Amino acid sequence: MAGESETLGLHAAKLGKRFSSKGGDVQALEEVDLEVKQGGFMSIIGPSGCGKSTLLRAFSDLVEPSTGEISVNGKMPAEARAAREFGVVFQSPNLLPWRTVLRNVTLPLQVMGVDRPTRNQTALEMLELVGLGSFARHHPWQLSGGMQQRVAIARALSTNPSVLLMDEPFGALDEITRDRLNLELMRIWGQLSATILFITHSITEAVFLSSQIAVMSSRPGRITELIDVNLPYPRNTETRDMPEFYELVIEVRRALVEASAVAS
Ligand SMILES: Nc1ncnc2c1ncn2[C@@H]1O[C@H](COP(=O)(O)OP(=O)(O)OP(=O)(O)O)[C@@H](O)[C@H]1O
Ligand SMILES: [Mg+2]
Repeated sequence: MAGESETLGLHAAKLGKRFSSKGGDVQALEEVDLEVKQGGFMSIIGPSGCGKSTLLRAFSDLVEPSTGEISVNGKMPAEARAAREFGVVFQSPNLLPWRTVLRNVTLPLQVMGVDRPTRNQTALEMLELVGLGSFARHHPWQLSGGMQQRVAIARALSTNPSVLLMDEPFGALDEITRDRLNLELMRIWGQLSATILFITHSITEAVFLSSQIAVMSSRPGRITELIDVNLPYPRNTETRDMPEFYELVIEVRRALVEASAVAS
């Protein structure tokens, strides 16, 4: 259908969000325009409190925008949520300690009413994909932080979403584990060709993963710069040694310093 591919992916136009509370109002987002094309990998980087999570939560139907428009694969977030168009991964894995790894991953499918053999099979496939097939019968507390985060990714992928919304998923991990999971995420992204919106505070992580980086200013959050990352895919350990990688790191750092300097 003509034009359909243009509506796929993520779109925000003049998006604003104002939180009102007893302590006063906070303008978290103002006039945010953003487009992540279908199959694209967009990272958002910006100073703490600039509204990155608010933006991601607006896409995932957890925050109601005050102004502007927002869509996921051409649908309003609530519709997209009902249609299981997206999966969400947060900084903390939020696994249920009394359920096994397998039964944490099957949870969204159980909620959807998928029968037990099918949901077990799908969950096992997702656990294999994140390299945890042999830990299906373990409980979350028997896994390391990085492994728990991989379970959370498997859970988000279990409903086969075409969009993945990730809010600092590797923020609590040590650098070596983070590098390893970045490689894994690249592999998974290559296999699933999903659209990814990824929030991070790490410049090197953003450059390594993304096809584009959006830099946000201090509150109220606005996109101040869009940086194309024209490093070849598939990205691997050699990518981090390329001179172009360092040039991009320097460029993103400069953009971030400028964005942080904008008065809030
Ligand atoms: N539910 C809420 N109610 C009131 N204010 C909120 C709410 N959620 C976020 N805010 C405010 O909106 C602003 C942006 O918060 P947000 O969590 O989006 O920032 P962030 O860029 O994700 O920060 P960080 O990098 O520290 O995670 C902050 O000032 C925050 O206090
Ligand atoms: Mg945040």
